Amino acid sequence: MRDIFGRRLPSIEPNSLINCFGGVDVSLIIRFLIEAENILQVHWEMGLYLSVVVLAVSIAMAAGWLTVLKNSPLVDPLPAVLPPRPKEEGVFAHNALLHGVEKIGVGQVPGPEDLAVDSHGRIYTGCSDGWIKRVETDGRVVNWMYVGGRPTGVAVGLHEEILVCDAIQGLLNVTEGKVEVLSTEADGLKYKLTDALDVANDGTIYFTDASHKYDINNYQLDFLESRPYGRLLKYDPSTGKTTVLVKDLFFGNGVALSQKQDFLVFCETCKARCQRYWLVGEKKGSVENFIDSLPGYPDNIRNNKKGKLYVALSSSRSWFGEEVILRFSVLKRFLAHPRIISIFFNNLPKTSRILVVSEEGTPLALYEDPNGKEVLDVTSGLEVGEYLYLGSLATNYISRLKLQ
Ligand SMILES: *[C@@H]1O[C@H](CO)[C@@H](O)[C@H](O)[C@H]1NC(C)=O
Repeated sequence: MRDIFGRRLPSIEPNSLINCFGGVDVSLIIRFLIEAENILQVHWEMGLYLSVVVLAVSIAMAAGWLTVLKNSPLVDPLPAVLPPRPKEEGVFAHNALLHGVEKIGVGQVPGPEDLAVDSHGRIYTGCSDGWIKRVETDGRVVNWMYVGGRPTGVAVGLHEEILVCDAIQGLLNVTEGKVEVLSTEADGLKYKLTDALDVANDGTIYFTDASHKYDINNYQLDFLESRPYGRLLKYDPSTGKTTVLVKDLFFGNGVALSQKQDFLVFCETCKARCQRYWLVGEKKGSVENFIDSLPGYPDNIRNNKKGKLYVALSSSRSWFGEEVILRFSVLKRFLAHPRIISIFFNNLPKTSRILVVSEEGTPLALYEDPNGKEVLDVTSGLEVGEYLYLGSLATNYISRLKLQ
């Protein structure tokens, strides 16, 4: 007799002693027990085999995790705390007003992050190839001045010079044939990511350094670390001195003065909010909330000098990003690997928006490209005449939309 696995079973004589117990055929029970033992034994072997495999995979995974964690550039990230995501209704209701924009300088302006217009109506932008490019009034694009680095913020100075926040080099003064570095550090701390600026009527330059820890190639790490390394700064051209106005910003970004220049508004990208900094009066030097709970992460902000501020929201708020990834320090440290982090950032919701806000901080209107098909990653909105010009980190053209 053989068991189910073909092994020989001990043969049991029908008339042996064990067959006498109360007439019950004990041989059947014994046969069952032997069968059961065989099955158990085989399963135990399989179980052991499986356990070894599971253990080996776990050890390999744990070793992988530990290596990633050990090599993580993030040592001690904090869980991010952001204001609530607003309902997408009212002013924030979805629309496709940015569809059908006109594209300017296609292929000639890689990553035109910020825009500025001079008194002749010519538009300047800083590109990822290190050039400041100029769009002439007839729409032609010229390579105006090479600054190297990565020019992000641009503004026109009192003498028609182009003042540039170069993410790598600091605050620059660019004129025909000359690039002058104005500021690279404040309070003994060097800028790592000089980002955006505005110029007051008296020539004072207000600007931001988004992070003194991470540079432009690692800005995602600043987002993940959720610690405030940004600063709002002031450059006085008469003395050449730079003063820190506000420190500990969560990625300090766009800057725009109010029409009366009694305050300025600056964006804190990682907090999905804009803050007001008072320049005069009783509240001088103090910071208060201007608008928070934005539907996206704010980049540049521009005043149309008629009391309307254009806040560029380059991508949409992400529930998964904020509630899952940005909440857990271990997850952040794991994600801080360059290959992993790019998967996450490349999959953020691609909704591009320009939000129009009053000088009281009231949202007035929203221009949206719901899927980033035409103005992906919008980073600035500048009103010039009857048009709204749009800068972007991701396109190789400047877009413009005719305002009604
Ligand atoms: C920039 O340079 C030009 C030319 O040298 C000069 O006239 C202007 O005052 C400078 N601007 C600032 C803010 O330094």
